[in-house]
Amino acid sequence: MRSLFISCLLLPALFHTVAAQSDAPNATVGPIPGLNATDVQAALTFERANWANGSVEDESFYRAPLNSSILPAGTLLKVELYTNTSLYTLPPQTALSRILYQTRNLNGSLIPASAYILWPYSPRTQPDGSYPVVAWGHGTTGIFPECAPSHIKSLSYQFTAPFPLAIQGYVVVAPDYAGLGVSKTASGEPIIHQLYANEAAANDLFYAVEAAQSAFPKLSKEFVVVGHSQGGGAAWAAAERQAHTPVQGYLGAVSAAPLLNFIATLQLGAALLGRDAVFASVAPSIAGVARAITSVFPDFDVGSVLTPAGLQRLRILEQIQGCNAAASELFTTGMVSIARPDVLENGYANAYQNLTSTGGKEIAGPLLVLQGTADTLIPVNITTQYVHLTSGRCPESAIEYVIYEGAEHIPSMYTSQREWLGWIEDRFAGKKVAGGLRTAERRSVLPQTNYQADLNWFLESVTERFQAS
Ligand SMILES: *[C@@H]1O[C@H](CO)[C@@H](O)[C@H](O)[C@H]1NC(C)=O
Ligand SMILES: *[C@@H]1O[C@H](CO)[C@@H](O)[C@H](O)[C@H]1NC(C)=O
Ligand SMILES: *[C@@H]1O[C@H](CO)[C@@H](O)[C@H](O)[C@H]1NC(C)=O
Ligand SMILES: *[C@@H]1O[C@H](CO)[C@@H](O)[C@H](O)[C@H]1NC(C)=O
Ligand SMILES: *[C@@H]1O[C@H](CO)[C@@H](O)[C@H](O)[C@H]1NC(C)=O
Ligand SMILES: *[C@@H]1O[C@H](CO)[C@@H](O)[C@H](O)[C@H]1NC(C)=O
Ligand SMILES: *[C@@H]1O[C@H](CO)[C@@H](O)[C@H](O)[C@H]1NC(C)=O
Ligand SMILES: *[C@@H]1O[C@H](CO)[C@@H](O)[C@H](O)[C@H]1NC(C)=O
Repeated sequence: MRSLFISCLLLPALFHTVAAQSDAPNATVGPIPGLNATDVQAALTFERANWANGSVEDESFYRAPLNSSILPAGTLLKVELYTNTSLYTLPPQTALSRILYQTRNLNGSLIPASAYILWPYSPRTQPDGSYPVVAWGHGTTGIFPECAPSHIKSLSYQFTAPFPLAIQGYVVVAPDYAGLGVSKTASGEPIIHQLYANEAAANDLFYAVEAAQSAFPKLSKEFVVVGHSQGGGAAWAAAERQAHTPVQGYLGAVSAAPLLNFIATLQLGAALLGRDAVFASVAPSIAGVARAITSVFPDFDVGSVLTPAGLQRLRILEQIQGCNAAASELFTTGMVSIARPDVLENGYANAYQNLTSTGGKEIAGPLLVLQGTADTLIPVNITTQYVHLTSGRCPESAIEYVIYEGAEHIPSMYTSQREWLGWIEDRFAGKKVAGGLRTAERRSVLPQTNYQADLNWFLESVTERFQAS
């Protein structure tokens, strides 16, 4: 049983490895029942061991150039041509660059953000000799600047998409969504990551591609967008954005296990798995969305959707700048309610949801949707529902929907890898996709129980010569 109580007074000692965050609010909270500080510390230590080169706060790369505030969205703000790959756990013979680019948040404000570019050894070529670009929308890593994939050794989602894409000859342009990586605007205002505001993440995808193209003229004008989970929502939102704000070169989007509507997903999850189980498993996301709402509605009180225990944990997470691992230890252990019972009915939460919902709207260009039936985070039914809503709204839209029997959330990117890589190749080859909805179901060739069910490994740097032999 987890029974350790920790208080704010203990925090500086417990989290002595935390980089000084002089302007981050320190927790001013009382004891927190049910929290095991040893486990939180272990998760935090694990996260920090995965940083390529220290805190983003200490890397000057992540600081927006002075006077850049008014530059238009898509402007290249900074280029690091050759990132030191020995600090990362990349596939052999891939190279890395990083850029800062100007983007727009949900409210349309101009803000700086970071991105990485993963280079193949020998890229494919377009007829004009340019290198084909795939924009990668990553799944949730967390809500704070330290959660930027570009400063994580494995780029956070490694073989799920960026590694196979680069190995297959595509140049991968991968934004850290705004608020991850670059923590402040050029004028010093903090940037809050707008979790699950898919339209904002879609801005990041388009503007990162634009900035990368200006940094590297050999990159193709044409590009495909691929995203999973939060990034699946971003990729779908890219298809919607393309319908009202067309960008030259956009060839289509792959949206895997997409988070399209957080409240509807929670409601369906609660009906399927029970409210307590779902609220416990997505508690970090609920807290992250609550924080994001304040960036849109400054009057919003986070305490109106989080319990005092939830608020305390969010404050601690902010103080330690924890990401997925630390958040999971802080929020989903100890059987403490994080969200208030009426969170789904909260007016601000619903207004934020209305502003950020994806799906059921007009889209442009072909869309490939991938979904596993065993996904416990994104129930297959909700994806099916939005596929049908969208197709009903725009019957001429080319939507391919492929369902993978027995695949969990991240594994759906692996069951489908052959198909989405083929689909991307076809887009660059200029193959036309027939309009209308086509649905397919895939099943494993051997009985499902014989397959590796989920990700049970992570990548680490070699520290002894024999480990790489
Ligand atoms: C906290 O977790 C650690 C490791 O998981 C365990 O050894 C320790 O007994 C736990 N502490 C308490 C007070 O439960
Ligand atoms: C938070 O605590 C750290 C370490 O104890 C300290 O350096 C910092 O000044 C504090 N920040 C605030 C805003 O109180
Ligand atoms: C690591 O970060 C430090 C601090 O910003 C910087 O001086 C150094 O050049 C970085 N190292 C590499 C290899 O990028
Ligand atoms: C920023 O802009 C101001 C006013 O235009 C100018 O005086 C200053 O030199 C600029 N600073 C930099 C670093 O470009
Ligand atoms: C890259 O980083 C490694 C490890 O910190 C260092 O030994 C090496 O000198 C760096 N290479 C360059 C080109 O800076
Ligand atoms: C952001 O946009 C929403 C909806 O248009 C508006 O209600 C809100 O006041 C804006 N927030 C900020 C901080 O500008
Ligand atoms: C959100 O949208 C729904 C459906 O359009 C509407 O009924 C509801 O009033 C909206 N809620 C808020 C808080 O804007
Ligand atoms: C999910 O969809 C299936 C097939 O359409 C249906 O039988 C089932 O009732 C749905 N479940 C929920 C919870 O909506």
